[in-house]
Amino acid sequence: MHRLALDLYEDHARSALTPEAHAYVSGGAGHGAGVARNQEAWRALLLEPALGRRLGALSAGVEILGRRYRFPCLVAPMAYQRLAHPEGERATALAAAAQGAGFVLSCQTSLPADQVAAEPFWFQLYLQPERAATRALVAAAVRAGAEALVVTMDAPLNGIRNAEIAAGFALPAGIRPVMLDGLPAAARSAVQDPIAGALAMAPDWAELAALCAEVSLPVLAKGVMSVASARAALAAGCAGVVVSNHGGRVLEGLPATAQVLAQIRAALPEALILADGGIRSGEDLFRALALGADAVLLGRPVFYALALGGAQGVSTCLRRLQDEFAVTMGLMGCETCAEITPERLYRPAFT
Ligand SMILES: Cc1cc2nc3c(=O)[nH]c(=O)nc-3n(C[C@H](O)[C@H](O)[C@H](O)COP(=O)(O)O)c2cc1C
Repeated sequence: MHRLALDLYEDHARSALTPEAHAYVSGGAGHGAGVARNQEAWRALLLEPALGRRLGALSAGVEILGRRYRFPCLVAPMAYQRLAHPEGERATALAAAAQGAGFVLSCQTSLPADQVAAEPFWFQLYLQPERAATRALVAAAVRAGAEALVVTMDAPLNGIRNAEIAAGFALPAGIRPVMLDGLPAAARSAVQDPIAGALAMAPDWAELAALCAEVSLPVLAKGVMSVASARAALAAGCAGVVVSNHGGRVLEGLPATAQVLAQIRAALPEALILADGGIRSGEDLFRALALGADAVLLGRPVFYALALGGAQGVSTCLRRLQDEFAVTMGLMGCETCAEITPERLYRPAFT
């Protein structure tokens, strides 16, 4: 097993990133309480192994939207990966493919989709102020091999990330959201107010429904943190949802994803549900499945691993998570992901 646990990547990558880029990647809304809350909430869930089962070969594999993954993990969409490494998103995609994980390309990618894709991938989309611009983005992603869309609903504005602001982060020359080149900028309000301008781009359920009706790819809504939002996304025609608080980057006061996941699964037993935010170990991945996720998205550790070692670094990081997950499954008495149920979470007995 590789020596570096996922939660140690941040510290090791510190010297491989500029202080400004480090503040951008690590930062959370406000002083970052939401980032910490995500991680703490997984760890607070204790485990209850099924002892005494003779296990055969473990299989961590899952099938999601018709594709088989070696373990239930996709790399989360993260903007501007060339901040971490010259090969940016291409290196991350390559590593994900090598490890049998999925890859979600951010719409704010620093390399165009057709220079990234190693395997079919999912494309994360911010709905654009003009439908034609959204459609052009989708078409470019599909040409490059996108087989699902992830529409981010929770970030019509950037969160206020104190550490990033204090560090004075700005995109360095040569790094920009290349797929947005030539697309109309945010609609301007009459008073040229930047917040109003950004909010004019905010996605609504009707716009999401129009997209779902128009594209042949499955669409997932990302940023869902309540049963009501999950129901609205499915009613709009989504194939699934990503339970996410954007890694604590948009609002500091949101609950942890681990705190809302079980109730969303209970309300929608048949839905495709992914979750992200603070997954830092194989045990965390196991906990997410026990709460009802079909798979998780892994964010910041991948960014740091990319800074540390490019494609090789990301591959090593994903492999560590996969190995830890397999060990956890074995110790928990689960042969397949389907056996990872809520019963595997410890509930204190009240006597
Ligand atoms: C540097 C960075 C950039 C991100 N960019 C995007 C983005 O472009 N679109 C998006 O939907 N989410 C974005 N996210 C959020 C991630 O997709 C994901 O929800 C979050 O990072 C998961 O939490 P974790 O980092 O604790 O694993 C970004 C996160 C980080 C850390």
